[in-house]
Amino acid sequence: MLEPLAIVRAVHFAACLAALGTPAFMLLAGSLDTLERPLRRFTAAALAVAVVSGAVWFTLVAARILAVPVREALGDGGLITVATDTRFGRMAVLRLVFAVLGFGAVLTPRWRWPAAAAAAMLTGAIAWTGHAGAGTGPVGSLHLASDVLHLISAGLWLGALPAFALMLLWSRGDPARAKLAAGVTRRFSLLAVGCVLALLISGVVNSAVLVGWPTGLLASSYGRALALKVALFAMMLVLAAFNRYRLTPCLPARDALGALAATTFAETALGLGILLLVGLLGTLAPASHLHKPTAAINPDAAFVHIHTEVVMADLTIAPGTPGTSAAIMRLWHEDYTPFIAERVKLALDPTFSGAAAIQHEAVQSADGSWVIERMRIQSPGVWTARVIIDHDGTSTALDAPLVITQCSNDCR
Ligand code: HEM
Repeated sequence: MLEPLAIVRAVHFAACLAALGTPAFMLLAGSLDTLERPLRRFTAAALAVAVVSGAVWFTLVAARILAVPVREALGDGGLITVATDTRFGRMAVLRLVFAVLGFGAVLTPRWRWPAAAAAAMLTGAIAWTGHAGAGTGPVGSLHLASDVLHLISAGLWLGALPAFALMLLWSRGDPARAKLAAGVTRRFSLLAVGCVLALLISGVVNSAVLVGWPTGLLASSYGRALALKVALFAMMLVLAAFNRYRLTPCLPARDALGALAATTFAETALGLGILLLVGLLGTLAPASHLHKPTAAINPDAAFVHIHTEVVMADLTIAPGTPGTSAAIMRLWHEDYTPFIAERVKLALDPTFSGAAAIQHEAVQSADGSWVIERMRIQSPGVWTARVIIDHDGTSTALDAPLVITQCSNDCR
């Protein structure tokens, strides 16, 4: 059974892609007279669904970050903390601004370009909220750029399919409209070929970063979901090829218009299946990141696994509440061999006001882990933990949000 977060993400992606694809398709189509208003309304509706599903997505993730039930996150101002103090939160606020700009554009006479531009930013910025946003270094930047291309091309193709199918139905029975639809179909088909190529290339780049070698594809639930996604994509390509080489040459014949509308709706349904899988993928640990915990995690501790291509670290702060705590850091290469460091420091930066940043140098213990016996953490909240590792004459900093929870009883 898909969890609510996966479904909400899928609805959000579908709405963003449609909010981009519809005005973009109309720019390609030119004048569509009586279809103009329904498609403008469809774009506004897609933006509305994007905002509502985005708010639900944000709330579910905020509750996870704060490690509290949704009701509590809604109640005690936790959402504000996450919105202002985490990258995910700040990106969600920025994307809300893009959605509002999109709404504003839809209300203006010449709405297509500004609406498409606002929706492109709303959709492209999704890349910073997912796995691509957590990458670092040149590979991280490549992954981010590839994911933006992936999202925009998904919007210009899959996101435009509903408008395309509606145009085909609208054009049946009217020779002038049918002739116009035939011309638009040929133009859209060219755009679709470009988008499919971009999706394939960026999809392979995303997969290479997040799955690693294809042999590991079916070894993890992430890999299996991705394999199913690629299978649905292949089915979409078969339909698209049928549309392009069998049906399009028969346009503007009435039957061909009807058949093309039907196969386009089928393509859209497959595309929604793909988005459900993408909704799921974003909630799973990528296959290349699957690690069993290096030691049993103390339930009273704050724990975070930080991962880069260079080194990964398991950081445990116990107890994970304000007061005096100890920190243990275990460093690993990607293949789990111990990572040799010359020096390790831990910095904790409060992402809220009223607490001071702290930094401590760690001491290496006999089992190879790096330990800080005593450090004083002033307040609960979201802190940015930075593990600074000196090695091979250089230094690597790993950072991630870490939640220091409220004490259940008197702080020490
Ligand atoms: C109609 C075709 C496709 C659509 C609509 C589509 C859509 C998407 C969307 C919306 C995302 C989410 C991006 C994010 O959260 O940052 C995504 C991610 C991804 N896509 Fe696709 N995609 C398509 C085809 C493909 C193909 C053919 C591949 C592989 C060759 C692929 C591989 C991936 C991977 C690996 C991710 C990253 C998922 C993650 O963040 O964990 N996609 N796709």
